[in-house]
Amino acid sequence: MKLAVVGGGSTYTPELIDGFARLRDVLPVTELVLIDPAASRLERVGGLARRIFARQGHPGRISWTGDLDAGVDGADAVLLQLRVGGQAARNQDETWPLECGCVGQETTGAGGLAKALRTVPVVLDIAERVRRRSPGAWIVDFTNPVGIVTRALLTQGHKAVGLCNVAIGFQRKFARLLGVAPDQVELDHIGLNHLTWERAVRVAGEDVLPRLLAEHGDAVADDLRMPRSLLDRLGVIPSYYLRYFYRHDAVVRELRGKPSRAAEVGAIERQLLDMYADPSLDEKPELLSKRGGAYYSEAAVALTSSLLRGTGTSGGVGGAGTSGGGNDPGDIRIVNTSNHGALPFLPDDAVIEAPAVVSPAGARVVPVRPLEPLYAGLTAHVTAYEHLALEAALKGGRDRVFTALLAHPLIGQADPADRLTDALIAHNREHLTWA
Ligand code: G6P
Ligand code: MN
Repeated sequence: MKLAVVGGGSTYTPELIDGFARLRDVLPVTELVLIDPAASRLERVGGLARRIFARQGHPGRISWTGDLDAGVDGADAVLLQLRVGGQAARNQDETWPLECGCVGQETTGAGGLAKALRTVPVVLDIAERVRRRSPGAWIVDFTNPVGIVTRALLTQGHKAVGLCNVAIGFQRKFARLLGVAPDQVELDHIGLNHLTWERAVRVAGEDVLPRLLAEHGDAVADDLRMPRSLLDRLGVIPSYYLRYFYRHDAVVRELRGKPSRAAEVGAIERQLLDMYADPSLDEKPELLSKRGGAYYSEAAVALTSSLLRGTGTSGGVGGAGTSGGGNDPGDIRIVNTSNHGALPFLPDDAVIEAPAVVSPAGARVVPVRPLEPLYAGLTAHVTAYEHLALEAALKGGRDRVFTALLAHPLIGQADPADRLTDALIAHNREHLTWA
């Protein structure tokens, strides 16, 4: 089984390699190619990747290249984890929106739109080249903004599934709090990427969410940096990214007073790359846990295994293992894929994040119980924004950028939308072919 990782020079890659090494029974990788234009990073990350495999006795071959076409040739699956413009562009996304009183974040609000505009054309070009070189390959997209990027891939007919680690992070956290094994915890996870709610947390079929909140509400709220009282009133657990909505103005004040996350990550990355260059290092360093990608490797291994092998292994999020009977057996994984009627108030081609049956035939969301108005309203609103954001990313033009910003629930007014449009274009000109 050959896998290719685009953005393989990322400092996150050792997390992924560690997962491939530990979980080789689930996903027997024989050949792994790391693809990245940044040769010096690739050298360091690739070297460490080989040492991790060697330490764990993994027989798979690891190579690296800057040549995308050669790298993806013959791959069974291609993982996308690239970042157009690097941390420097992210730093911009996190900064200029604050000047207009809006949250500065790499996937939410105006910064997220900037990232989508830079990223969608690059990802679509990569996907076309994958299709030419390896027509049957699955694309697993971890590149943000995952919802918009996955929607772009699916509208162009690519075999793609979007992946995020928010759900697996909750699963692991709740399992620890409840004192059970992670694969016993099944989440009723619903919404859009980075806009999700856990409406139930089932262990052996029983919804333990009320008990989880009653006994561990403070720990959960601390992690999410949201008030405990809000979780108690909602009776559901929103993802961390909902704080940009539910506490927008407070977050803007907080972000204005401290260095950007991109600056923090830049410092961590410099240290990580120094560590990776050390030939005696042969495992992922503890410092990597300061990045947001915890459990990414386990989610990626589980999903790729379901897509390539339809293994029926549990251990991914969903915890239900196989779906059992029916005509469409497969594993339950929480992924980003087409709505197809699961949330009837959204278009079929909207991409949602929810438990889905995943097999070599693809991903299909399992039936969803009706979404309460509080969550349905925001989900519909952001879906409309994502539609307009994709239009802007595909066709370009100032008016389309303005329209997408006006449609965003965190913006919504013409004057700030106009100012944000100008700032977005000014800060991203080198990445926007039409600007
Ligand atoms: C989580 C999110 C990812 C995001 C990451 C940021 O893992 O699910 O989508 O890219 O956090 O982490 P960072 O360390 O770059 O701030
Ligand atoms: Mn994510």
